[in-house]
Amino acid sequence: MSPYKHSLLCLFVLFFVSKAQDEPPRTLKYLFRSVYSFGDSFVDPGNNNYLPNVAKSNFPPYGRDFVNKQPTGRFSNGKLFPDFVAIYLGSEYQRPYMDPMLNLTEQPTAVSFASATSGYDPSTTNKSNATSMLDQLEEFKVYKGKLQRKLGKRIANREIRRALFYVNAGSDDFALSYFGDGNPTTTSSGSIPQKITPEEYEQSLLKRVKQFVQGLWYQGARKIAVNGLPPLGCIPIGITRLPPTPGNSQDARNCVEYVNAISKDFNLLLQDELKALQNKFPKFGTKIAYIDFEQPLLDIIQNPDEYDFSEVNKGCCGTGLYEIGVQCNETTPVCADASEYVFWDAAHPSEDAYYAIFQSNLATIDQIIKF
Ligand SMILES: *[C@@H]1O[C@H](CO)[C@@H](O)[C@H](O)[C@H]1NC(C)=O
Ligand SMILES: *[C@@H]1O[C@H](CO)[C@@H](O)[C@H](O)[C@H]1NC(C)=O
Ligand SMILES: *[C@@H]1O[C@H](CO)[C@@H](O)[C@H](O)[C@H]1NC(C)=O
Ligand SMILES: *[C@@H]1O[C@H](CO)[C@@H](O)[C@H](O)[C@H]1NC(C)=O
Repeated sequence: MSPYKHSLLCLFVLFFVSKAQDEPPRTLKYLFRSVYSFGDSFVDPGNNNYLPNVAKSNFPPYGRDFVNKQPTGRFSNGKLFPDFVAIYLGSEYQRPYMDPMLNLTEQPTAVSFASATSGYDPSTTNKSNATSMLDQLEEFKVYKGKLQRKLGKRIANREIRRALFYVNAGSDDFALSYFGDGNPTTTSSGSIPQKITPEEYEQSLLKRVKQFVQGLWYQGARKIAVNGLPPLGCIPIGITRLPPTPGNSQDARNCVEYVNAISKDFNLLLQDELKALQNKFPKFGTKIAYIDFEQPLLDIIQNPDEYDFSEVNKGCCGTGLYEIGVQCNETTPVCADASEYVFWDAAHPSEDAYYAIFQSNLATIDQIIKF
């Protein structure tokens, strides 16, 4: 049973109804906006396929519920949050920037520069051979140059002004750099001082978020949506590896509260930072907004029945406790119906969970894309 399929149908019905009523018709061309995304495996549609990186998912059972049942390098059974955004804005689902078939003979409208295991912290990327956030920004500059040569500067720059820029990173900074050794009081990373507090680490990431958003703005981006952290203590592999909340047994597989507290704290600071950035830039035309993965995901996990989910703390792939990437492969047993699972693998939401989170953020997305 798939709640999103039903709602998607409604979306199309509404679209055609409004198309029939409005004069002149709101054609797809009128609605068209590009979507550019940056970040980690919550966003990457397959850039890592082209990198020397163990973080890959371009094999079954990944993509089991995607278009043509194709594994693409998306870390889910189907579409990701920005794919839903792109489709909503009248585009196709995302294409990876690294795809050699991605050329501008036919202009793609949803391009992702994201790379699984990337983070704001340069040492997160260094450990994993992903494309760092700053390199993703550099790639966008190259892309923009190509777009300008193809369309002419004026039209290309207008495209970029109208486009939605979506940024989702930070999870891997905590997962790989901060909690890399499964011990929240120490860190496995050489470049992060030992015993740095979560607050200090949050501050260092926030500086880099600010840098990144400013970098986008100076490239001409005006509609920028920045994702907060998901409730990191509810990610299945985190539950498996981190010491449980004091007083809880590991077997209960409850969300790890002291880790969720970090997500909550970071997200509050991030929202302040985004407001400050919004105020820093000329009001006219600039929209910088916060996309919330925390409350929607917590709500789904706490009230799965309301969303037609039945499994909230294990992934659909394998035991659901630890399998991610190569550990979730053709030989791995998989659950029958991923739409009953909030998580597809031990770290990533299922397509239906992404869709539910997308719906919770729809008002924000509408707000950003308004002129
Ligand atoms: C980084 O790249 C090298 C090859 O260049 C590869 O051997 C290694 O496994 C990669 N590390 C990760 C974590 O993907
Ligand atoms: C450009 O991309 C299209 C598909 O999007 C493909 O058919 C075509 O061969 C590509 N052209 C080049 C020169 O790679
Ligand atoms: C990671 O960074 C360190 C220090 O900047 C550098 O010496 C090392 O070569 C980098 N490793 C990779 C895999 O890029
Ligand atoms: C495939 O996944 C299983 C776990 O389900 C793992 O034991 C095995 O090593 C994986 N195979 C490869 C080639 O990574």
